[in-house]
Amino acid sequence: MDIAVIGSNMVDLIAYINRMPAEGETIEAPDFKMGCGGKGANQAIAAAKLGAEVLMLTRVGNDIFADNTIENFRQNGIDTRYIFKSDASSGVAPIFVDPESRNSIIIVKGANKLLSPADIETAAEDIKKCKLIVLQLEIPTETVYAAVKFGEKHGIPVLLNPAPAQPDLVLEHVKSCEFIVPNETELSLLTGMPVDNEDDIRNAAAALHQAGVKNVIVTLGSKGALWLNQNGEEQMFPSHKVNARDTTGAGDAFIGCFSHVYVKTGDIAQAIKTANFYAGDSVTRLGTQSSYHDRAEFVADYPEQADFV
Ligand code: RIB
Ligand code: NA
Repeated sequence: MDIAVIGSNMVDLIAYINRMPAEGETIEAPDFKMGCGGKGANQAIAAAKLGAEVLMLTRVGNDIFADNTIENFRQNGIDTRYIFKSDASSGVAPIFVDPESRNSIIIVKGANKLLSPADIETAAEDIKKCKLIVLQLEIPTETVYAAVKFGEKHGIPVLLNPAPAQPDLVLEHVKSCEFIVPNETELSLLTGMPVDNEDDIRNAAAALHQAGVKNVIVTLGSKGALWLNQNGEEQMFPSHKVNARDTTGAGDAFIGCFSHVYVKTGDIAQAIKTANFYAGDSVTRLGTQSSYHDRAEFVADYPEQADFV
């Protein structure tokens, strides 16, 4: 087993809108797409599509979405033994994507709120066999902290994607992570520092590093990613120009691909480079998971990446 994702799943209900309605107004949107989403699931699926062996620890609800979500994991070759059903609604995410491909997302966590530290114990023997634990913040923070501790105790590197930005996340409890991968907003919230320009971003990343986080990788959307390594040295990885249609889930594509390449090669710089290509490619297609290519498709478009995925 390569990667354990301990995190969320959602059903994405994406409306492609011309504009947001005003209060009390009803407007028509030209298009709609429903698909499997949720940050944890997206990252797991991206890694699995590229060939990683992935275990998913998550909770679905007791509604019409649950079996479809489990089946989606299964079809993508993910270990589904630790996908539990709860007496709750499944997580859902109404999403609005505007003509400039910008998105606004509402998450209703539902069953994801019930993923507990005890669930980690249930899956402990198999999580111990993994080479990387991947976390996000759509599950209770106490479960995130328990997963970070679990990784520390068993010597498994942990990657935390602190998304969506969570004001109550306590840095002290996650500073032992091997990787923290925030975007600008999340970085600002985590450090209490401004991120208005490149210098700000560098300083905030340095503060995270000084707090004890080994590797800080700040994702900067169309600008690429900034890596502060364990010696505090920084390196910028510019992204590649693409024709963006839907950026929803691009951050998750980055993390899923990064995790796979890191586990496979141990090369962090290469994992960032390949993840930049993979995430950039995903924004050229509509939807979240439905926009992620599998290994064969990715390598066909980016043959020079074949050695790393
Ligand atoms: O990161 C994108 C994801 O955020 C969507 O799939 C949606 O479900 C929300 O969790
Ligand atoms: Na997309």
